[in-house]
Parts: sequence; C-alpha cells; structure tokens
Amino acid sequence: MSKGSLNRLRQDIEALDHELLRLLNERASVSLQIGRLKVQEGLDIRDPWREQAVFKYLAQHNKGPLKAREIEEIFGKIVAISRRIQSAASFGGPARPVESADADPCCTLTGETALYGIIGNPVAHSMSPLMHNTAFGLLGLDAIYLPFEVEDLPGALTGMKALNVKGASVTHPFKTQILGLIDEIDDTAEKIGAVNTLVFGKDGIRGTNTDWVGAVRCLEVLLPVEGHTFVVVGAGGAARAVVFGITSKGGNVMVVNRSEEKGRSLADEFDCAFALLPEIGAVGGDCLVNTTPVGMYPKTDAMPVPKGVLSSYKAVADVIYNPVETMLLKEAKAAGCKVASGFHMFVHQGVEQFSTWTGRKAPVREMEAVVYERLLRT
Ligand SMILES: NC(=O)c1ccc[n+]([C@@H]2O[C@H](COP(=O)([O-])OP(=O)(O)OC[C@H]3O[C@@H](n4cnc5c(N)ncnc54)[C@H](OP(=O)(O)O)[C@@H]3O)[C@@H](O)[C@H]2O)c1
Repeated sequence: MSKGSLNRLRQDIEALDHELLRLLNERASVSLQIGRLKVQEGLDIRDPWREQAVFKYLAQHNKGPLKAREIEEIFGKIVAISRRIQSAASFGGPARPVESADADPCCTLTGETALYGIIGNPVAHSMSPLMHNTAFGLLGLDAIYLPFEVEDLPGALTGMKALNVKGASVTHPFKTQILGLIDEIDDTAEKIGAVNTLVFGKDGIRGTNTDWVGAVRCLEVLLPVEGHTFVVVGAGGAARAVVFGITSKGGNVMVVNRSEEKGRSLADEFDCAFALLPEIGAVGGDCLVNTTPVGMYPKTDAMPVPKGVLSSYKAVADVIYNPVETMLLKEAKAAGCKVASGFHMFVHQGVEQFSTWTGRKAPVREMEAVVYERLLRT
C-alpha cells in the first residue's frame, strides 16, 4: 500500500472518529436527561431490562464486520458509562440515587479501575467504603474503595504496593503502628503522631493525617476556632488530632483526662493547660469537646462529664459518630449549648482524603447524606 493511500485511510478514520465523538457526546447528553428524569421520578439508575433491550436491538441490526460479541463489548462500556453519567445526574438530588451510585462501581470494574481501601481490624463496621464509593460514583470516577481486615500490617502494605493501590485510609489499631513502616510521613502526621491516610506514589508510600481537618471543620460550625478556648476531654489518638487542629488554627486548649500521665504529656507537647477529669467542674472555656469513647454504641446512656457542667459552655462537640446524637449532645442541647456530632468530623476527614487522592472537590452533601442515613439504620 502506498504512503498516500495509508494517509487517505487514516484521514477517513479521523473523520469517522470525529463523528463517533460527536455521536457519543450526543448520546451522553440524552443519558444525562434520562438520569435527571429518573431522579425526579424516584426510579433506580440501573435498569437491567432496558440494558438487555439495548443489546438485543444492536445484535439484530448489526451488519458486521464487527461480531455480535464485539458490539456487546463496545456497547457494554458505553452503557456502563451512561449509568455513571446518570448517577452523576443525581448530584445534588435526593438520597435514593446516592445509594445507586454506591452500588454502581461493582458493575463497571475494569483493569483501569483505580483501587483505594481502608486497612484496620476490625473494619466490617466502617462507613468509609459507603462514603467514598458514593463520591466516586457521583463524580463518575473509575475507582473503587474496599475494606481490608488486616492481620499482618507490613504484608498488607507490600501487597497494596504490588497491586498498584492508589490510596488508603488507616484506622484502629494501625494509625500509630504504621509510622515506622512507610516511606514518608508529612509534618502534620508527624506532629499528631498518627497517620489516617496513605498515598501510594512512584517514590513509595506517603502518610498524612486528615482527622484534624475533620475536627476543625466540625468545630468551626459551632464557633470560630481562633481566639476561643476549648476544653478537650481525653488524651488518646482522636484528642491528638483535635488538639493539633485547634492549636494550629489559633485556639486555646485545656486538656482534661482520666489518667494524669497521658493527659499531661499531651498538654505539655502542645503547650496547653491540664486538669484531671474529676476537676472538670473547676475549669471552663467556650467549647467542650469529648474525645473519649464514653457514650459510644452500645453504651449510649454513658456521659464523659457530669451534665451539671454543660451549661457553662457556649458549645459542645463529640467525636463519637455512632450514635449521631450522643447522650452528651442531648444534655448539652437541653442546657442551651450549640452542638456538633462526630459524624461531621468523620465525613470531613473523608472529604479531605477524597480530595488528597483524586485532586477533585468532594460531593460533601451527598457523602454526609449517605453516611447519616446508614447510621440511622444501624
Ligand atoms: N469522628 C471521627 O472521625 C473519629 C476519628 C477518630 C476517633 N473517633 C472516636 O474517638 C473515640 C476515641 O478514640 P481514640 O482513638 O482517641 O481512643 P484512645 O486512643 O484509646 O483514647 C481514648 C481516651 O479516652 C479516655 N477514656 C477511655 N475510657 C474512658 C472512661 N471510661 N472515662 C474517662 N476517660 C476515658 C482515655 O483515658 P486514659 O488516658 O485515662 O486511658 C483516653 O485518653 C472513639 O469513640 C472513636 O470512635 C472518631
């Protein structure tokens, strides 16, 4: 074949690609309209009968040279992408299509799908897969987030690198154990002394911490952090992220803890005041923040501090997110305080992770909605 004929054929292909591109985008626009109509009507995005009908119609009208299974392969991808576009149409819509988006990634996995996950033990209860898969689905990203219940942490990290995992959340009991096992720890995670987010790159695994971002966003709903005084009850991992967040945003902290050694050590590290828990009635501030597990499901009647102290605070926040409204927050509301649930901290640490991994703005409202709904059902 002469070079001239090859060029002519390539020009033909280019013209056809141009036309295909136009047609595919036209099809996508119609898909988007269908998605919006489905949202209005409260219908599921996925409609297997309709998809079957599309394949049947194509098989009947295919004149070749492409074989039926090749047409099915091509249109399988087009239909999967249409479904994703329709899920994206529910962005900002009611909660039902959010659930559809959560289920969608399993139907569209390919060799190019980006892998994310959470490592912890146990992880069965984690809301992170629901939250991140919903966000991937809504933004139409070819990505999936899986829960990994890990026994062997170094082995898990080697395996994740080998499997080309892009990013991971780290939860109990690995947030501190992981520090000596990764290639880089950023300043924030170093200062907090814990990693909750991993980014896998060419230079190895980088660890960061987004819990403090979640904490600050949660508190700023109540009052500006800068210039206000926060009484932080507890001195564990969550407290470290909360104290780091408040002090780095210009707030003052008083650490109050059951055991003196741990509490004083945290207070000294961040240059804060310290008091023992029984002395809580003698200290004061603008906002009280519970970072202990007291009041968490299933012991939901428990309170970390006596209810009599609550009325002296303008606001009260809890890091516990199950239940969404702890006994502490119920009593604080009754005492006239503004309140914020750990549910907001949880969602916002995830929002920050999502942006770190994808470089995209996370669909915050939908992530909140889907986690909130699931928490109300548990
Ligand atoms: N919303 C979110 O995104 C988020 C993120 C992280 C954690 N959390 C939640 O935060 C809570 C704490 O987690 P953590 O990792 O910080 O735990 P941790 O490291 O074990 O620390 C727990 C702290 O609570 C204190 N404490 C425990 N039981 C107590 C009791 N009965 N009375 C008084 N103080 C008590 C401990 O005091 P001592 O020092 O005296 O032992 C310790 O300072 C958990 O409920 C967890 O689910 C939420």
